[in-house]
Amino acid sequence: MSKRRLFASVMAADYTCFAEDVRAAVEAGVDGLHFDIMDGVFVPNITFGRDLVAAMRPLTDLPFNAHLMVAKPDLIAEQVIEAGANQVAIHPEAGGQLQRSLARIRELGAQPGVALSPGVPLEMIEWVLDDVDYVVVMSVDPGFSGQTFIPSTKQKLQKMAEMIRQRGRDTRILLDGGVSPDNIAELAQLGATDFVAGGAIFYNRPDMDRAKVAAERVRQLREAMS
Ligand code: DX5
Ligand code: ZN
Repeated sequence: MSKRRLFASVMAADYTCFAEDVRAAVEAGVDGLHFDIMDGVFVPNITFGRDLVAAMRPLTDLPFNAHLMVAKPDLIAEQVIEAGANQVAIHPEAGGQLQRSLARIRELGAQPGVALSPGVPLEMIEWVLDDVDYVVVMSVDPGFSGQTFIPSTKQKLQKMAEMIRQRGRDTRILLDGGVSPDNIAELAQLGATDFVAGGAIFYNRPDMDRAKVAAERVRQLREAMS
């Protein structure tokens, strides 16, 4: 198993000093940044899109991992890749032609991934496993940071890992939603190779030493996941 990776979800950063928070996560030693792109149609929330990805791109060479929760993933995938995203995941229930969309993401130079919401069965992505570099297993319903981890995800994660093993692939599994120092070790043991953490890094920090607190949280998560 190659090294486990931790991605900071920037949607949970403090928007009054966004770039500072992004820098703090980078300096704390995360392996990449996770951009939750929401359009208010696919999910009941709106975040940001290509302009923000482009604005953050000069800050770091770390991989930018885009998670598209949008009704028109083809269009937005193209835009965020142009803005500098290196990995792009789309949801099968967004509709359209999944295989073609994934092929197009690769053609545009990014690594394609497919994201599974909690209520969506594994079978939805079984036949595109050969077309993706990673699977996002979501442990909260998409739309918001800071939600509570849905326990049935653990069983689903195990089944996902088993499906990948059976197909003889080394597809990575990115666990997304409600990840904390308390559950990350168990999730790694159940088969997650990579993790997204939003609230666990950025929420509830005192005004002073915000960067320091974020760094300490990243350190704790890393220690527990490896
Ligand atoms: C939810 C997003 C997640 C979220 C994670 O729709 O896909 O990436 O930002 O945030 P936490 O870690 O706070 O659950
Ligand atoms: Zn996400």
